[in-house]
Amino acid sequence: MTSQNIYILGIESSCDDTAASVIHNGRILSNVVANQKIHEEYGGVVPELASRAHQQNIVPVVHQALEKAGIKKEQLNAVAFTRGPGLMGSLLVGASFAKSFAYGLNIPLIDVNHMQAHILAHFIDEEGFEKPEFPFLAMTISGGHTQIVKVNHYFDMDVIGETIDDAVGEAYDKSGKILGLGYPAGPEIDKRAQLGNPKAFKFTKPKVEGLNFSFSGLKTAILYFIQREVKENSDFVKENLNDICASIQYTIIGILIDKLKVATKQTGIKQIAIGGGVSANSGIRKALKDGEQKFGWKTYVPKFEFTTDNAAMIAIVGYLKFLEEDFAQQDVTASARLKI
Ligand code: KG4
Ligand code: ZN
Repeated sequence: MTSQNIYILGIESSCDDTAASVIHNGRILSNVVANQKIHEEYGGVVPELASRAHQQNIVPVVHQALEKAGIKKEQLNAVAFTRGPGLMGSLLVGASFAKSFAYGLNIPLIDVNHMQAHILAHFIDEEGFEKPEFPFLAMTISGGHTQIVKVNHYFDMDVIGETIDDAVGEAYDKSGKILGLGYPAGPEIDKRAQLGNPKAFKFTKPKVEGLNFSFSGLKTAILYFIQREVKENSDFVKENLNDICASIQYTIIGILIDKLKVATKQTGIKQIAIGGGVSANSGIRKALKDGEQKFGWKTYVPKFEFTTDNAAMIAIVGYLKFLEEDFAQQDVTASARLKI
């Protein structure tokens, strides 16, 4: 892309992970994430605790990212940070830090949209990972979002479908809560799903117009189903956990794939990239591969470390914006509901 020597520091703090990464010309030199264990005991992210933990983590995390990259802060060309969407108290920590850091070094500040970053993570230079060609469809599936986006170019994106209630990650986490699993439940449901029978129990898929999604009905259906079965047999969940997880996963993946089928038909675009925490899921990965055979799709699945929240995706967007000299001013503010 360029023969220049460009070093970008990316900072991510939109939810409960404090992360920093250094990218050199689109290639990762470091990618540091401090997870906040504190939320596990509450069964979900507690915003006030998240913000406080970010304040404790941000300086050591950035320090570590620079050290691992083997560069001095004076070598940085710009600082990129997550402007939104996310939790306000969490975003403010990263935004304030990035602003002062860029100001102190007298280098450009770059604001990044977290949802765009989940998509543009596919443009990180990684051996063995092909970059999608424009236009492509991106499905972002995380604990906070479920969207289908038509990506015309790096910063020219149209959201063509999204959830009208819960995000798909929430469907996993809330189902997990009903089953007595820890938070976040997605990874465990996925693991157990691979050991169970996906057709053991049937949950009806919601009927939602067009390319939009709905997951709150599924959660209620699962709750009533479990309550009913437990009345008959108090050990029902314990005895059938893998089958229940497999059936939930089968239903959720079915909902996602059905919408992708409609989206590819509607747009005529058969290139599909996924991003967000749920793109780590084995079921969606397999279903997309099957789609290549069945429907002639070309699919792009991110490297595991770029699925959940990370700062490398923020740094790559910073790099792409740096090339376009698209900089933010010091008066830029964090935005909890920032749109793509
Ligand atoms: O992108 P992310 O790290 O944070 C948000 O921006 O929300 O996504 C976290 C979500 C959680 O809901 C978690 O349960 C889900 O991703 N998740 C998974 C898997 N790994 C993480 N869901 C299903 N299967 C997985 N393997
Ligand atoms: Zn995310």
